[in-house]
Amino acid sequence: AAGKLEVSMPAVVEVEIGGTARLECNFYIPGNGSYTYINWFYVSADLGEEWLCHITGSEILEENTDYKGRLSVGEDKALSISKVTVLDTRTFVCQVGAGSHGEGENRTELHVYKVPEAPEITANSAGISVQSSDIPQIAQCVSRNSFPHPNITWHKNGEKLQPEEKKVKIPTTLTRESSGLYTVSSTLFAHVTREDRNSLFYCTVHYWLRGQSHTVESQRVNVTVFYPAEHVKLQVMPSSALVKEGDDIRLVCEADGNPAPVFSFYKRELEDNWQDLSSLADTTSGVLDLRGVNKSSSGLYRCQTLDLDDMRQMEKDVELVVNYIEGVHVKMEPSSPLQEGDSVRLSCDAYSPVALDYQWRDEKGSLVGGNQLFLSNLTFETSSNFSCKVIAPSVPGLEQSKQVAVAVQGKPRIVAISSPLYVRQDEVVNLTCKAIAFPRPSVHWNVNGTVRAPEGSPWCFLGAGTLSLSPGRCSNAEAGEHQGETGINFFLSHCV
Ligand SMILES: *[C@@H]1O[C@H](CO)[C@@H](O)[C@H](O)[C@H]1NC(C)=O
Ligand SMILES: *[C@@H]1O[C@H](CO)[C@@H](O)[C@H](O)[C@H]1NC(C)=O
Ligand SMILES: *[C@@H]1O[C@H](CO)[C@@H](O)[C@H](O)[C@H]1NC(C)=O
Ligand SMILES: *[C@@H]1O[C@H](CO)[C@@H](O)[C@H](O)[C@H]1NC(C)=O
Ligand SMILES: *[C@@H]1O[C@H](CO)[C@@H](O)[C@H](O)[C@H]1NC(C)=O
Ligand SMILES: *[C@@H]1O[C@H](CO)[C@@H](O)[C@H](O)[C@H]1NC(C)=O
Repeated sequence: AAGKLEVSMPAVVEVEIGGTARLECNFYIPGNGSYTYINWFYVSADLGEEWLCHITGSEILEENTDYKGRLSVGEDKALSISKVTVLDTRTFVCQVGAGSHGEGENRTELHVYKVPEAPEITANSAGISVQSSDIPQIAQCVSRNSFPHPNITWHKNGEKLQPEEKKVKIPTTLTRESSGLYTVSSTLFAHVTREDRNSLFYCTVHYWLRGQSHTVESQRVNVTVFYPAEHVKLQVMPSSALVKEGDDIRLVCEADGNPAPVFSFYKRELEDNWQDLSSLADTTSGVLDLRGVNKSSSGLYRCQTLDLDDMRQMEKDVELVVNYIEGVHVKMEPSSPLQEGDSVRLSCDAYSPVALDYQWRDEKGSLVGGNQLFLSNLTFETSSNFSCKVIAPSVPGLEQSKQVAVAVQGKPRIVAISSPLYVRQDEVVNLTCKAIAFPRPSVHWNVNGTVRAPEGSPWCFLGAGTLSLSPGRCSNAEAGEHQGETGINFFLSHCV
Protein backbone atom coordinates (compact mmCIF):
# COMPACT_ATOMS: atom_id res chain seq x y z
CA ALA A 1 0.00 0.00 0.00
CA ALA A 2 2.96 2.26 0.69
CA GLY A 3 3.55 2.48 -3.02
CA LYS A 4 0.14 3.82 -4.01
CA LEU A 5 -1.55 7.20 -4.04
CA GLU A 6 -4.25 7.13 -1.37
CA VAL A 7 -7.09 9.58 -0.83
CA SER A 8 -8.90 9.39 2.46
CA MET A 9 -12.27 11.03 3.26
CA PRO A 10 -14.94 10.46 5.88
CA ALA A 11 -17.84 8.44 4.56
CA VAL A 12 -20.48 10.83 5.86
CA VAL A 13 -20.52 14.48 6.97
CA GLU A 14 -23.67 15.85 8.60
CA VAL A 15 -24.42 19.55 8.73
CA GLU A 16 -27.45 21.56 9.74
CA ILE A 17 -29.26 23.45 7.04
CA GLY A 18 -27.92 26.99 6.73
CA GLY A 19 -24.55 26.00 8.20
CA THR A 20 -21.19 25.39 6.53
CA ALA A 21 -20.13 21.90 5.50
CA ARG A 22 -16.43 21.15 5.63
CA LEU A 23 -15.37 18.22 3.46
CA GLU A 24 -11.84 17.06 4.19
CA CYS A 25 -9.70 15.39 1.58
CA ASN A 26 -6.41 13.90 2.87
CA PHE A 27 -4.02 12.17 0.52
CA TYR A 28 -0.79 10.27 0.60
CA ILE A 29 1.60 10.39 -2.31
CA PRO A 30 4.40 7.82 -2.20
CA GLY A 31 7.91 9.19 -1.83
CA ASN A 32 6.68 12.45 -0.34
CA GLY A 33 5.66 13.61 -3.80
CA SER A 34 3.30 16.52 -4.33
CA TYR A 35 0.03 16.68 -6.18
CA THR A 36 -0.38 18.03 -9.64
CA TYR A 37 -4.07 18.84 -9.37
CA ILE A 38 -7.14 18.30 -7.17
CA ASN A 39 -10.66 18.11 -8.60
CA TRP A 40 -13.88 18.35 -6.56
CA PHE A 41 -17.09 16.89 -8.01
CA TYR A 42 -20.50 16.07 -6.81
CA VAL A 43 -22.59 13.17 -8.00
CA SER A 44 -25.80 14.16 -9.67
CA ALA A 45 -28.51 11.54 -10.11
CA ASP A 46 -29.22 12.36 -13.75
CA LEU A 47 -26.04 14.02 -14.93
CA GLY A 48 -23.39 11.85 -13.24
CA GLU A 49 -20.34 13.65 -11.83
CA GLU A 50 -20.52 17.42 -11.97
CA TRP A 51 -17.34 19.42 -11.70
CA LEU A 52 -17.13 21.87 -8.85
CA CYS A 53 -13.58 23.17 -8.92
CA HIS A 54 -10.09 22.48 -10.09
CA ILE A 55 -7.03 23.24 -7.94
CA THR A 56 -3.47 23.51 -9.30
CA GLY A 57 -0.79 25.03 -7.11
CA SER A 58 -2.30 28.14 -5.67
CA GLU A 59 -4.86 28.49 -8.43
CA ILE A 60 -8.51 27.57 -7.80
CA LEU A 61 -10.90 27.33 -10.68
CA GLU A 62 -14.58 27.20 -9.88
CA GLU A 63 -16.63 25.45 -12.49
CA ASN A 64 -20.15 25.17 -11.20
CA THR A 65 -22.42 28.20 -11.22
CA ASP A 66 -24.90 26.63 -8.73
CA TYR A 67 -22.20 26.74 -6.06
CA LYS A 68 -20.65 30.07 -7.02
CA GLY A 69 -19.96 32.16 -4.00
CA ARG A 70 -20.58 29.33 -1.52
CA LEU A 71 -17.31 27.43 -2.00
CA SER A 72 -13.93 27.93 -0.41
CA VAL A 73 -10.82 25.76 -0.20
CA GLY A 74 -8.63 25.68 2.87
CA GLU A 75 -4.85 25.35 3.29
CA ASP A 76 -5.40 21.64 3.68
CA LYS A 77 -7.44 21.53 0.47
CA ALA A 78 -10.63 20.85 2.42
CA LEU A 79 -13.73 22.10 0.61
CA SER A 80 -16.15 24.27 2.59
CA ILE A 81 -19.71 24.82 1.37
CA SER A 82 -21.59 27.60 3.12
CA LYS A 83 -25.36 28.19 3.48
CA VAL A 84 -26.11 24.52 3.05
CA THR A 85 -29.61 23.65 1.75
CA VAL A 86 -31.53 20.42 1.40
CA LEU A 87 -30.30 20.26 -2.22
CA ASP A 88 -26.76 19.75 -0.96
CA THR A 89 -27.67 16.26 0.18
CA ARG A 90 -25.44 14.45 -2.25
CA THR A 91 -22.09 12.71 -2.65
CA PHE A 92 -18.94 14.78 -3.09
CA VAL A 93 -15.81 13.38 -4.75
CA CYS A 94 -12.24 14.54 -4.23
CA GLN A 95 -9.91 13.51 -7.04
CA VAL A 96 -6.14 13.92 -6.65
CA GLY A 97 -3.65 13.67 -9.50
CA ALA A 98 0.11 13.29 -8.81
CA GLY A 99 1.99 12.91 -12.06
CA SER A 100 3.67 9.53 -12.34
CA HIS A 101 1.83 8.23 -9.27
CA GLY A 102 -1.36 8.48 -11.23
CA GLU A 103 -4.75 9.53 -9.88
CA GLY A 104 -6.76 8.61 -6.76
CA GLU A 105 -10.16 9.59 -5.41
CA ASN A 106 -12.52 9.09 -2.48
CA ARG A 107 -16.01 10.32 -1.62
CA THR A 108 -18.06 11.76 1.20
CA GLU A 109 -21.83 11.77 1.51
CA LEU A 110 -23.10 15.11 2.75
CA HIS A 111 -26.14 14.75 4.96
CA VAL A 112 -28.01 17.90 5.73
CA TYR A 113 -30.57 18.01 8.46
CA LYS A 114 -33.00 20.28 10.25
CA VAL A 115 -34.06 19.26 13.74
CA PRO A 116 -37.89 19.17 13.97
CA GLU A 117 -39.62 21.80 16.05
CA ALA A 118 -41.63 20.62 19.07
CA PRO A 119 -44.78 19.03 17.63
CA GLU A 120 -48.10 20.86 17.98
CA ILE A 121 -50.93 18.75 19.28
CA THR A 122 -54.63 19.64 18.99
CA ALA A 123 -57.13 17.58 20.91
CA ASN A 124 -60.71 17.02 19.84
CA SER A 125 -62.48 19.82 21.68
CA ALA A 126 -66.05 18.75 20.95
CA GLY A 127 -66.01 15.72 23.22
CA ILE A 128 -66.22 12.06 22.28
CA SER A 129 -68.93 9.58 23.10
CA VAL A 130 -68.02 6.07 24.20
CA GLN A 131 -70.97 4.96 22.10
CA SER A 132 -69.64 6.49 18.89
CA SER A 133 -70.07 4.06 15.99
CA ASP A 134 -67.25 5.51 13.86
CA ILE A 135 -63.72 5.51 15.15
CA PRO A 136 -63.60 9.03 16.61
CA GLN A 137 -60.74 11.47 16.17
CA ILE A 138 -58.79 12.00 19.39
CA ALA A 139 -56.12 14.49 18.37
CA GLN A 140 -53.93 15.75 15.58
CA CYS A 141 -50.17 16.23 15.76
CA VAL A 142 -48.08 18.39 13.42
CA SER A 143 -44.29 18.53 13.22
CA ARG A 144 -43.13 21.39 11.00
CA ASN A 145 -40.03 22.16 8.99
CA SER A 146 -37.58 19.36 9.45
CA PHE A 147 -35.25 17.42 7.21
CA PRO A 148 -35.29 14.58 6.50
CA HIS A 149 -38.87 13.84 7.48
CA PRO A 150 -39.33 12.45 10.97
CA ASN A 151 -41.71 9.74 12.16
CA ILE A 152 -44.58 10.43 14.61
CA THR A 153 -45.81 7.97 17.22
CA TRP A 154 -48.80 8.26 19.55
CA HIS A 155 -49.01 7.52 23.27
CA LYS A 156 -51.79 7.21 25.80
CA ASN A 157 -50.83 7.47 29.44
CA GLY A 158 -47.23 6.78 28.45
CA GLU A 159 -48.05 3.67 26.44
CA LYS A 160 -47.39 3.55 22.70
CA LEU A 161 -50.47 3.13 20.51
CA GLN A 162 -50.32 0.87 17.45
CA PRO A 163 -52.77 0.91 14.56
CA GLU A 164 -55.35 -1.83 15.07
CA GLU A 165 -58.02 -3.05 12.73
CA LYS A 166 -61.34 -1.25 13.49
CA LYS A 167 -59.93 0.16 16.72
CA VAL A 168 -56.99 2.49 16.19
CA LYS A 169 -56.16 4.39 12.99
CA ILE A 170 -53.15 6.65 12.60
CA PRO A 171 -53.13 8.25 9.14
CA THR A 172 -50.11 10.42 8.36
CA THR A 173 -49.55 13.05 5.68
CA LEU A 174 -46.19 14.32 4.55
CA THR A 175 -45.89 17.79 2.99
CA ARG A 176 -42.82 19.19 1.30
CA GLU A 177 -42.61 22.92 1.97
CA SER A 178 -41.24 25.33 -0.64
CA SER A 179 -38.10 25.53 1.50
CA GLY A 180 -37.58 21.82 0.88
CA LEU A 181 -38.31 21.05 4.51
CA TYR A 182 -40.95 18.55 5.56
CA THR A 183 -44.10 18.98 7.59
CA VAL A 184 -45.58 15.78 8.97
CA SER A 185 -49.11 15.61 10.24
CA SER A 186 -50.46 12.57 12.05
CA THR A 187 -54.02 12.05 13.30
CA LEU A 188 -55.05 9.61 15.98
CA PHE A 189 -58.43 7.92 15.65
CA ALA A 190 -59.42 5.55 18.44
CA HIS A 191 -62.45 4.43 20.40
CA VAL A 192 -62.67 5.76 23.93
CA THR A 193 -63.94 4.22 27.14
CA ARG A 194 -65.30 5.83 30.26
CA GLU A 195 -61.82 5.56 31.82
CA ASP A 196 -60.38 7.75 29.07
CA ARG A 197 -61.88 10.79 30.80
CA ASN A 198 -58.64 10.73 32.79
CA SER A 199 -56.32 9.68 29.96
CA LEU A 200 -53.52 11.88 28.71
CA PHE A 201 -52.50 11.64 25.06
CA TYR A 202 -49.35 12.90 23.39
CA CYS A 203 -47.34 12.42 20.21
CA THR A 204 -43.61 11.95 19.82
CA VAL A 205 -41.47 13.00 16.86
CA HIS A 206 -38.52 10.67 16.11
CA TYR A 207 -35.50 11.78 14.08
CA TRP A 208 -31.91 10.68 13.49
CA LEU A 209 -28.87 12.81 14.15
CA ARG A 210 -25.22 11.60 13.87
CA GLY A 211 -26.33 8.01 13.96
CA GLN A 212 -28.37 8.55 17.11
CA SER A 213 -32.12 8.47 17.36
CA HIS A 214 -33.68 11.48 19.07
CA THR A 215 -37.22 12.31 20.16
CA VAL A 216 -39.30 15.40 20.92
CA GLU A 217 -42.58 14.99 22.77
CA SER A 218 -45.68 17.13 22.45
CA GLN A 219 -47.69 18.44 25.36
CA ARG A 220 -50.13 16.09 27.08
CA VAL A 221 -53.77 16.61 26.18
CA ASN A 222 -57.02 15.18 27.50
CA VAL A 223 -60.38 14.86 25.82
CA THR A 224 -63.91 15.19 27.08
CA VAL A 225 -65.52 11.77 27.14
CA PHE A 226 -69.29 11.37 27.08
CA TYR A 227 -70.61 8.23 28.74
CA PRO A 228 -74.00 7.17 30.02
CA ALA A 229 -74.69 6.87 33.73
CA GLU A 230 -74.18 3.43 35.24
CA HIS A 231 -75.27 4.21 38.79
CA VAL A 232 -77.76 6.57 40.36
CA LYS A 233 -77.52 7.59 44.01
CA LEU A 234 -80.29 9.29 46.00
CA GLN A 235 -79.48 10.67 49.43
CA VAL A 236 -81.27 12.60 52.15
CA MET A 237 -79.13 15.44 53.46
CA PRO A 238 -78.00 16.09 56.09
CA SER A 239 -78.93 12.54 57.25
CA SER A 240 -81.98 10.38 56.74
CA ALA A 241 -81.85 8.76 60.20
CA LEU A 242 -82.60 11.83 62.31
CA VAL A 243 -85.01 13.98 60.39
CA LYS A 244 -87.51 15.78 62.62
CA GLU A 245 -90.56 17.89 61.98
CA GLY A 246 -89.66 21.45 61.00
CA ASP A 247 -86.32 20.47 59.46
CA ASP A 248 -85.18 21.70 56.05
CA ILE A 249 -84.26 18.62 54.04
CA ARG A 250 -82.43 18.21 50.76
CA LEU A 251 -82.74 15.17 48.52
CA VAL A 252 -79.61 14.89 46.39
CA CYS A 253 -79.63 12.69 43.32
CA GLU A 254 -76.37 11.87 41.58
CA ALA A 255 -75.62 9.94 38.41
CA ASP A 256 -72.13 8.99 37.23
CA GLY A 257 -72.69 9.82 33.56
CA ASN A 258 -71.17 12.64 31.54
CA PRO A 259 -72.86 14.92 30.82
CA ALA A 260 -75.18 14.62 33.80
CA PRO A 261 -78.65 13.38 32.86
CA VAL A 262 -81.93 15.22 33.49
CA PHE A 263 -83.36 14.45 36.94
CA SER A 264 -87.03 14.04 37.92
CA PHE A 265 -88.40 13.56 41.45
CA TYR A 266 -91.53 11.74 42.59
CA LYS A 267 -93.21 10.86 45.88
CA ARG A 268 -95.31 7.76 46.28
CA GLU A 269 -98.93 8.46 47.12
CA LEU A 270 -101.67 6.03 47.97
CA GLU A 271 -102.22 3.01 45.73
CA ASP A 272 -98.79 3.30 44.17
CA ASN A 273 -99.52 6.58 42.45
CA TRP A 274 -96.47 8.77 42.08
CA GLN A 275 -96.73 12.50 42.54
CA ASP A 276 -94.37 14.45 40.27
CA LEU A 277 -92.30 16.89 42.37
CA SER A 278 -89.97 17.93 39.55
CA SER A 279 -91.39 21.45 39.43
CA LEU A 280 -90.03 21.95 42.97
CA ALA A 281 -86.61 20.53 42.10
CA ASP A 282 -83.51 21.62 40.26
CA THR A 283 -83.62 19.07 37.46
CA THR A 284 -80.16 19.87 36.14
CA SER A 285 -78.27 19.55 39.42
CA GLY A 286 -80.55 16.86 40.85
CA VAL A 287 -81.55 18.64 44.08
CA LEU A 288 -84.98 18.68 45.72
CA ASP A 289 -85.35 20.94 48.76
CA LEU A 290 -88.12 20.25 51.27
CA ARG A 291 -88.54 23.09 53.76
CA GLY A 292 -90.07 22.58 57.21
CA VAL A 293 -91.00 18.92 56.74
CA ASN A 294 -93.76 17.35 58.82
CA LYS A 295 -95.31 13.96 59.46
CA SER A 296 -96.97 13.94 56.06
CA SER A 297 -93.64 14.52 54.30
CA SER A 298 -92.64 10.98 55.30
CA GLY A 299 -92.72 8.42 52.54
CA LEU A 300 -90.94 6.93 49.55
CA TYR A 301 -89.22 9.36 47.21
CA ARG A 302 -87.91 8.49 43.76
CA CYS A 303 -85.28 10.09 41.56
CA GLN A 304 -85.41 9.25 37.87
CA THR A 305 -82.65 10.10 35.40
CA LEU A 306 -82.97 10.48 31.67
CA ASP A 307 -79.86 10.31 29.49
CA LEU A 308 -80.48 12.65 26.57
CA ASP A 309 -77.93 10.75 24.44
CA ASP A 310 -79.55 7.35 24.42
CA MET A 311 -82.87 8.20 26.15
CA ARG A 312 -82.14 5.58 28.78
CA GLN A 313 -83.89 5.95 32.15
CA MET A 314 -82.64 4.91 35.58
CA GLU A 315 -84.17 5.38 38.99
CA LYS A 316 -83.46 5.17 42.69
CA ASP A 317 -85.76 5.35 45.73
CA VAL A 318 -85.21 6.57 49.25
CA GLU A 319 -87.49 6.37 52.26
CA LEU A 320 -87.90 9.62 54.21
CA VAL A 321 -88.95 9.25 57.85
CA VAL A 322 -89.89 12.49 59.60
CA ASN A 323 -89.85 12.00 63.37
CA TYR A 324 -92.46 13.97 65.30
CA ILE A 325 -94.23 14.42 68.64
CA GLU A 326 -97.92 15.12 68.66
CA GLY A 327 -100.86 15.21 71.05
CA VAL A 328 -99.00 16.56 74.08
CA HIS A 329 -101.61 16.29 76.81
CA VAL A 330 -101.50 17.34 80.45
CA LYS A 331 -103.83 15.89 83.05
CA MET A 332 -104.51 17.49 86.46
CA GLU A 333 -106.11 15.34 89.19
CA PRO A 334 -108.34 16.52 90.72
CA SER A 335 -109.37 18.96 88.04
CA SER A 336 -111.75 20.92 90.32
CA PRO A 337 -110.61 24.31 91.72
CA LEU A 338 -107.88 23.76 94.32
CA GLN A 339 -108.04 25.04 97.85
CA GLU A 340 -105.23 25.63 100.28
CA GLY A 341 -104.19 22.32 101.82
CA ASP A 342 -105.28 20.25 98.79
CA SER A 343 -102.99 17.96 96.82
CA VAL A 344 -102.76 17.66 93.05
CA ARG A 345 -101.21 15.18 90.60
CA LEU A 346 -100.01 16.45 87.20
CA SER A 347 -99.33 13.89 84.50
CA CYS A 348 -98.14 14.31 80.95
CA ASP A 349 -98.59 12.22 77.83
CA ALA A 350 -97.79 12.50 74.09
CA TYR A 351 -97.50 10.38 70.96
CA SER A 352 -94.45 9.77 68.81
CA PRO A 353 -93.15 6.87 66.73
CA VAL A 354 -89.93 7.10 68.75
CA ALA A 355 -89.41 6.67 72.52
CA LEU A 356 -90.15 9.76 74.64
CA ASP A 357 -88.92 11.19 77.93
CA TYR A 358 -90.99 13.58 80.09
CA GLN A 359 -89.83 16.36 82.36
CA TRP A 360 -91.86 18.67 84.65
CA ARG A 361 -90.33 22.04 85.20
CA ASP A 362 -91.42 24.93 87.38
CA GLU A 363 -91.61 28.55 86.37
CA LYS A 364 -87.88 29.07 86.99
CA GLY A 365 -87.09 26.15 84.71
CA SER A 366 -85.92 23.80 87.48
CA LEU A 367 -86.60 20.13 87.04
CA VAL A 368 -89.32 19.12 89.52
CA GLY A 369 -90.64 15.81 88.22
CA GLY A 370 -90.64 13.03 85.64
CA ASN A 371 -93.80 12.24 83.71
CA GLN A 372 -95.82 12.79 86.90
CA LEU A 373 -95.67 15.63 89.38
CA PHE A 374 -97.35 15.37 92.79
CA LEU A 375 -97.92 18.58 94.72
CA SER A 376 -99.30 18.24 98.27
CA ASN A 377 -100.55 20.70 100.94
CA LEU A 378 -101.02 23.44 98.37
CA THR A 379 -100.81 27.03 99.50
CA PHE A 380 -101.29 30.29 97.66
CA GLU A 381 -97.51 30.34 97.36
CA THR A 382 -97.46 27.08 95.43
CA SER A 383 -99.66 28.66 92.76
CA SER A 384 -97.51 28.61 89.65
CA ASN A 385 -97.22 27.71 86.02
CA PHE A 386 -95.68 24.29 85.46
CA SER A 387 -94.58 22.96 82.10
CA CYS A 388 -94.23 19.46 80.80
CA LYS A 389 -91.35 19.02 78.36
CA VAL A 390 -91.53 16.01 76.03
CA ILE A 391 -88.19 14.91 74.59
CA ALA A 392 -87.27 12.26 72.01
CA PRO A 393 -83.76 11.27 73.12
CA SER A 394 -83.01 9.40 69.88
CA VAL A 395 -83.70 12.45 67.69
CA PRO A 396 -81.60 15.40 68.81
CA GLY A 397 -83.63 18.58 68.97
CA LEU A 398 -87.03 16.90 68.77
CA GLU A 399 -89.07 18.19 71.73
CA GLN A 400 -92.33 19.90 72.65
CA SER A 401 -93.74 21.36 75.83
CA LYS A 402 -97.07 22.27 77.32
CA GLN A 403 -97.75 24.67 80.19
CA VAL A 404 -100.37 24.31 82.92
CA ALA A 405 -101.38 26.79 85.63
CA VAL A 406 -101.92 25.47 89.14
CA ALA A 407 -104.08 28.05 90.91
CA VAL A 408 -104.95 27.61 94.61
CA GLN A 409 -108.15 29.42 95.54
CA GLY A 410 -109.00 30.74 98.95
CA LYS A 411 -110.11 33.60 101.15
CA PRO A 412 -107.72 36.46 101.63
CA ARG A 413 -105.20 36.06 104.41
CA ILE A 414 -103.39 39.10 105.79
CA VAL A 415 -99.74 38.35 105.80
CA ALA A 416 -98.25 41.68 106.87
CA ILE A 417 -99.29 45.04 108.27
CA SER A 418 -96.78 47.74 108.95
CA SER A 419 -97.81 49.77 111.95
CA PRO A 420 -95.42 52.19 113.55
CA LEU A 421 -96.91 52.91 116.95
CA TYR A 422 -95.55 56.41 117.46
CA VAL A 423 -94.83 59.04 114.89
CA ARG A 424 -93.64 62.56 115.23
CA GLN A 425 -95.75 65.51 114.45
CA ASP A 426 -95.79 66.54 110.78
CA GLU A 427 -94.26 63.23 109.77
CA VAL A 428 -95.69 61.42 106.78
CA VAL A 429 -96.54 57.86 107.74
CA ASN A 430 -97.35 55.07 105.32
CA LEU A 431 -99.15 52.05 106.70
CA THR A 432 -99.01 48.98 104.48
CA CYS A 433 -101.30 46.00 104.52
CA LYS A 434 -100.42 42.82 102.56
CA ALA A 435 -102.94 40.07 101.93
CA ILE A 436 -102.86 36.90 99.88
CA ALA A 437 -105.75 35.17 98.14
CA PHE A 438 -106.83 33.74 94.81
CA PRO A 439 -108.34 35.29 92.86
CA ARG A 440 -106.37 38.47 93.53
CA PRO A 441 -107.72 40.22 96.64
CA SER A 442 -108.36 43.95 97.04
CA VAL A 443 -107.40 45.81 100.21
CA HIS A 444 -109.37 48.58 101.90
CA TRP A 445 -108.54 50.66 104.94
CA ASN A 446 -110.92 52.29 107.34
CA VAL A 447 -110.35 54.37 110.42
CA ASN A 448 -112.76 53.91 113.30
CA GLY A 449 -115.10 52.27 110.80
CA THR A 450 -114.98 55.13 108.34
CA VAL A 451 -113.75 54.32 104.87
CA ARG A 452 -113.62 57.87 103.67
CA ALA A 453 -111.51 60.54 105.29
CA PRO A 454 -113.83 63.06 106.83
CA GLU A 455 -113.19 66.76 106.16
CA GLY A 456 -110.19 67.91 108.09
CA SER A 457 -108.81 64.41 108.70
CA PRO A 458 -105.11 64.15 109.06
CA TRP A 459 -105.16 60.92 107.00
CA CYS A 460 -106.06 59.99 103.55
CA PHE A 461 -105.98 56.88 101.34
CA LEU A 462 -103.25 56.38 98.89
CA GLY A 463 -104.46 53.46 96.82
CA ALA A 464 -104.89 49.84 97.75
CA GLY A 465 -102.91 48.50 100.65
CA THR A 466 -101.47 51.81 101.81
CA LEU A 467 -102.89 54.32 104.23
CA SER A 468 -101.11 57.58 104.37
CA LEU A 469 -101.24 59.88 107.35
CA SER A 470 -99.97 63.08 105.98
CA PRO A 471 -100.85 66.30 107.76
CA GLY A 472 -101.31 69.07 105.25
CA ARG A 473 -100.74 66.83 102.26
CA CYS A 474 -104.07 65.32 101.49
CA SER A 475 -106.27 67.29 99.23
CA ASN A 476 -109.30 66.34 101.27
CA ALA A 477 -107.74 67.32 104.64
CA GLU A 478 -107.09 70.76 105.88
CA ALA A 479 -103.60 71.70 106.83
CA GLY A 480 -102.57 73.25 110.11
CA GLU A 481 -105.67 72.29 112.07
CA HIS A 482 -103.90 69.71 114.18
CA GLN A 483 -100.69 71.57 114.75
CA GLY A 484 -99.68 71.63 118.31
CA GLU A 485 -100.77 68.06 118.90
CA THR A 486 -97.96 65.98 120.28
CA GLY A 487 -98.71 62.74 118.56
CA ILE A 488 -101.32 60.45 117.14
CA ASN A 489 -101.85 57.05 118.59
CA PHE A 490 -102.92 54.41 116.11
CA PHE A 491 -104.51 51.25 117.09
CA LEU A 492 -104.69 48.99 114.09
CA SER A 493 -106.44 45.78 114.75
CA HIS A 494 -106.80 44.55 111.24
CA CYS A 495 -107.21 45.55 107.69
CA VAL A 496 -109.75 43.86 105.42
C1 LIG B 1 -11.77 6.47 1.68
O1 LIG B 1 -11.39 7.02 2.94
C2 LIG B 1 -11.63 6.16 3.99
C3 LIG B 1 -11.33 6.90 5.29
O2 LIG B 1 -10.01 7.31 5.33
C4 LIG B 1 -10.88 4.88 3.86
O3 LIG B 1 -11.18 4.02 4.93
C5 LIG B 1 -11.26 4.21 2.53
O4 LIG B 1 -10.47 3.09 2.35
C6 LIG B 1 -11.06 5.17 1.41
N1 LIG B 1 -11.59 4.59 0.17
C7 LIG B 1 -10.89 4.53 -0.93
C8 LIG B 1 -11.58 3.94 -2.15
O5 LIG B 1 -9.75 4.92 -0.99
C1 LIG C 1 -39.34 5.99 10.69
O1 LIG C 1 -39.93 4.74 10.55
C2 LIG C 1 -39.31 3.91 9.56
C3 LIG C 1 -40.14 2.65 9.43
O2 LIG C 1 -40.53 2.19 10.68
C4 LIG C 1 -37.87 3.61 10.01
O3 LIG C 1 -37.23 2.82 9.06
C5 LIG C 1 -37.15 4.92 10.18
O4 LIG C 1 -35.85 4.69 10.69
C6 LIG C 1 -37.88 5.82 11.11
N1 LIG C 1 -37.26 7.11 11.09
C7 LIG C 1 -36.96 7.72 12.23
C8 LIG C 1 -36.38 9.06 12.07
O5 LIG C 1 -37.14 7.18 13.32
C1 LIG D 1 -58.15 18.20 31.18
O1 LIG D 1 -57.60 18.09 32.45
C2 LIG D 1 -57.62 19.31 33.19
C3 LIG D 1 -56.86 19.08 34.49
O2 LIG D 1 -57.22 17.87 35.07
C4 LIG D 1 -59.03 19.74 33.41
O3 LIG D 1 -59.07 20.95 34.12
C5 LIG D 1 -59.69 19.91 32.09
O4 LIG D 1 -61.05 20.24 32.28
C6 LIG D 1 -59.56 18.66 31.25
N1 LIG D 1 -60.08 18.94 29.94
C7 LIG D 1 -60.93 18.14 29.34
C8 LIG D 1 -61.30 18.54 27.94
O5 LIG D 1 -61.36 17.14 29.89
C1 LIG E 1 -99.48 22.18 105.45
O1 LIG E 1 -98.86 23.47 105.49
C2 LIG E 1 -99.11 24.17 106.66
C3 LIG E 1 -98.56 25.57 106.52
O2 LIG E 1 -97.26 25.53 105.94
C4 LIG E 1 -98.53 23.41 107.82
O3 LIG E 1 -98.79 24.08 109.03
C5 LIG E 1 -99.10 22.02 107.86
O4 LIG E 1 -98.50 21.24 108.88
C6 LIG E 1 -98.91 21.32 106.52
N1 LIG E 1 -99.62 20.05 106.56
C7 LIG E 1 -99.12 18.95 106.06
C8 LIG E 1 -99.96 17.75 106.12
O5 LIG E 1 -98.00 18.92 105.57
C1 LIG F 1 -98.79 31.78 84.15
O1 LIG F 1 -98.63 32.13 82.77
C2 LIG F 1 -99.58 33.06 82.32
C3 LIG F 1 -99.42 33.20 80.85
O2 LIG F 1 -98.07 33.21 80.51
C4 LIG F 1 -99.39 34.37 83.07
O3 LIG F 1 -100.33 35.33 82.65
C5 LIG F 1 -99.55 34.13 84.53
O4 LIG F 1 -99.24 35.30 85.27
C6 LIG F 1 -98.64 33.02 85.02
N1 LIG F 1 -98.95 32.67 86.35
C7 LIG F 1 -98.08 32.75 87.35
C8 LIG F 1 -98.58 32.31 88.69
O5 LIG F 1 -96.96 33.16 87.22
C1 LIG G 1 -111.05 56.72 116.87
O1 LIG G 1 -111.68 56.25 118.04
C2 LIG G 1 -110.96 56.49 119.21
C3 LIG G 1 -111.67 55.83 120.40
O2 LIG G 1 -113.01 55.84 120.25
C4 LIG G 1 -110.84 57.96 119.44
O3 LIG G 1 -110.08 58.20 120.59
C5 LIG G 1 -110.12 58.58 118.23
O4 LIG G 1 -110.04 59.93 118.33
C6 LIG G 1 -110.84 58.23 116.95
N1 LIG G 1 -109.93 58.67 115.85
C7 LIG G 1 -110.32 59.38 114.78
C8 LIG G 1 -109.26 59.80 113.86
O5 LIG G 1 -111.49 59.63 114.59
